[in-house]
Amino acid sequence: MRKKIIAGNWKMNTDINSGLELAKTINESLKNLVFNSKEYGVVIAPPFTHLYAVSKVIDNKFIQLSAQNIADNEKGAFTGEVSVDMIKSAGATATILGHSERRTYYGENSSTLSKKLNLAIKNNILPIFCIGEILAEREKEIHFNVVEKQVSEVLFNLTVEDFSKVVIAYEPVWAIGTGKVATPEQAQEMHEFIRNLIEKKYSKNIAQYTTILYGGSCSPSNAEGLFSKPDIDGGLIGGASLKAEDFLKLIEIRLKH
Ligand code: 13P
Repeated sequence: MRKKIIAGNWKMNTDINSGLELAKTINESLKNLVFNSKEYGVVIAPPFTHLYAVSKVIDNKFIQLSAQNIADNEKGAFTGEVSVDMIKSAGATATILGHSERRTYYGENSSTLSKKLNLAIKNNILPIFCIGEILAEREKEIHFNVVEKQVSEVLFNLTVEDFSKVVIAYEPVWAIGTGKVATPEQAQEMHEFIRNLIEKKYSKNIAQYTTILYGGSCSPSNAEGLFSKPDIDGGLIGGASLKAEDFLKLIEIRLKH
């Protein structure tokens, strides 16, 4: 069966000291929670600068360390970029890709994302691939078309073997950092739609095996409704992942369902 995951995207928050404290607190508390790490996963994605130090204070039996992005080239004269090799040598085993903030502020598109995705897979780095519509697209009722395009232009170029190494995160942009969470019904409807696309492209088996996370103002107060939906396998959490208590509550809620 597919893995249920709670992933924390710290974005550009915390300095090394506060980031280490947060990672240590999460790590210590997880030791007291009994869960099967084949069925449930916890991921944290601190800024690049923290990865190496954080890798030294977490137990990779409970927590998978993720970057928030990688460069679209392997190495060379790309000032300011961080390669997949670099995050790997800093202890990361996953990376977020295609977050809407990267698409909006840094012009990431399907062609750059395809390169990044292939580099991640080639290097055994788990890609957490983000998709989602903006408010105007939902209002125009073209959100399904937008998400289908994002999925098919990048993910559906993968072989079935490579596709099975990807985690998808549906993050409606209008719900990110706004406190305006998608209703469980809205999220479930989109997750089911995505799973059906995967079934049509690959197979029922692969569709059932793919982890699809929800992201956007997910917090302990609304997670119960979201995580009880059949196609919502967990969350990619922004704001609430910066408070150990909230992040742990989200993990506990995920473990209950
Ligand atoms: P918030 O949980 O702060 O809305 O952010 C969601 C997100 O963008 C996670 O990647």
